[in-house]
Amino acid sequence: MEELHKRPRDAWGSKLGVILAVAGSAIGLGNFLRFPVQAAQNGGGAFMIPYFISFLLLGLPLMWVEWTTGRFGGGFERSTAPGIFETVWRKNRFIKYFGVIGIFGPTIIFTYYSFIESWLLGYSVFALTGKYASCTDQASMGAFLQGYQGLVQNEHFSSVSTAYLFFLITFGINIVIMCVGLRAGIERVCKLGLLVLFVFAIIIMVRVLTLGAPDAARPDWNVNNGLGFLWNPQWAKLKEAKVWLAAAGQIFFTLSVGFGVILTYASYLRRQDDVALSGLTAASANEVAEVILGGSIVIPAAFAFFGNEGTLEIAKGGAFNLGFVTMPLVLQKVAFGEFFAFAWFFLLFIAGVTSSISLALPAIVFLQDEFNLDRKTASIIFAVVTFNLCQVVIFFNGHGALDEMDFWGGTFCVVLFALIEVILFAWVFGMDRAWSELHNGSDIRIPRIYRFIIKYVTPSFLILILGAWFIQDGWPTLLLERTPREKVPYVIGTRVLLVDLFAMVVFLVWLAWRKRQEKEAMP
Ligand code: PHE
Repeated sequence: MEELHKRPRDAWGSKLGVILAVAGSAIGLGNFLRFPVQAAQNGGGAFMIPYFISFLLLGLPLMWVEWTTGRFGGGFERSTAPGIFETVWRKNRFIKYFGVIGIFGPTIIFTYYSFIESWLLGYSVFALTGKYASCTDQASMGAFLQGYQGLVQNEHFSSVSTAYLFFLITFGINIVIMCVGLRAGIERVCKLGLLVLFVFAIIIMVRVLTLGAPDAARPDWNVNNGLGFLWNPQWAKLKEAKVWLAAAGQIFFTLSVGFGVILTYASYLRRQDDVALSGLTAASANEVAEVILGGSIVIPAAFAFFGNEGTLEIAKGGAFNLGFVTMPLVLQKVAFGEFFAFAWFFLLFIAGVTSSISLALPAIVFLQDEFNLDRKTASIIFAVVTFNLCQVVIFFNGHGALDEMDFWGGTFCVVLFALIEVILFAWVFGMDRAWSELHNGSDIRIPRIYRFIIKYVTPSFLILILGAWFIQDGWPTLLLERTPREKVPYVIGTRVLLVDLFAMVVFLVWLAWRKRQEKEAMP
């Protein structure tokens, strides 16, 4: 009887659709802002060595692991990590709780990612209306950003209310897409979004690369030297463990692997659908967007206008500084700057939307799958919970809440989750079965060396990273050693919230499984 009430499962519209959805998740703010800053801070061109090694030994293998495991679990109508893990390790009663990370992590990231995304919508509008036109140097543009975020009051903003308005719109857009669903919502948005994104990114890249030396008095402040600034290798940096960790961290973040979102996307594939080539294609699209587009915009542009020392200073200020302070200043100085600035912010906004919807999906689908809710109800429950969490991010912004969430949700959980995934795949499921599952319906054959890599190299690499991270960042962070005194209460508050949320998901998993058992026990 019960079976009759089960809702039909969602499905992707086309093969290209799912590839674009995964690429949309991968291509995000990480490509255009995080990557160039990481590269500039961690050895320039030399960074590309640990970066590509991490891509080949972590990123790509995990991409295949997630696509394959997701499709496998989907065959049992399970779409999120707790259920999917159980289909892989049937006899283990605890494995579902490890899957909690794959719902908790994306939900946490969604809360701050959607807030940052909303700044981009705000700035797209400001670019067109000329709201920041009176800010002509780093200091005043920086003050504009701080005013917008509600950190200070100034002539531009008297409170956080403008930012709040854009946040409401952005949050609403995300939730509406989720309510509309997989094929009509996510797939369609990603198809159109990626097109707009690539067109705008190419326009801006061409504009930046043709800037030449904008200041005649300083001919060495030019785009070529800017590219040199980013790409000239500082080999000595390769001796620092920190650089390797940064590279691995960037690979996870940019490819969206180790979070649980690709697992969910792939669970809507059919058993005969290819995963090997699709995973590779999505990963490659992300790398093009990251290395070619992301690497040719912010840093060279900053260099042409602010020179070597200036760019060093700016890069130290981090990704937000480059994106929201330096770029608008640079684009003010070129003809039709309003248009280019709009294109810049809007492209980032779109990149953000196609990523944040993937972050929202696991939690929503979990409610749908395990509690048999319809999509709208599940989306609304998700909206209520994350809307509340977002308030913490918005109002405790500048007090360390965002960084704390990023550390646990975006760094620690990811490596741990990736390790669990790869062990399940290669050791529990077994490499022989896993390899043939990966090649089921596949359009390509993956080089056999990857059997070895997935079984031995990727897990060892992950354990190494986890260990190094824990010693270098985890322990001091846990003990609040690096947290300035005034931030301590906020950070602890954020932690309490995070622990609560985690416990809530654990409870929901427990409850869902109990109900399932009861149902199965029924005659
Ligand atoms: N990959 C996205 C980016 O580069 C961020 C992201 C991480 C999205 C994890 C979804 C899941 O910005």
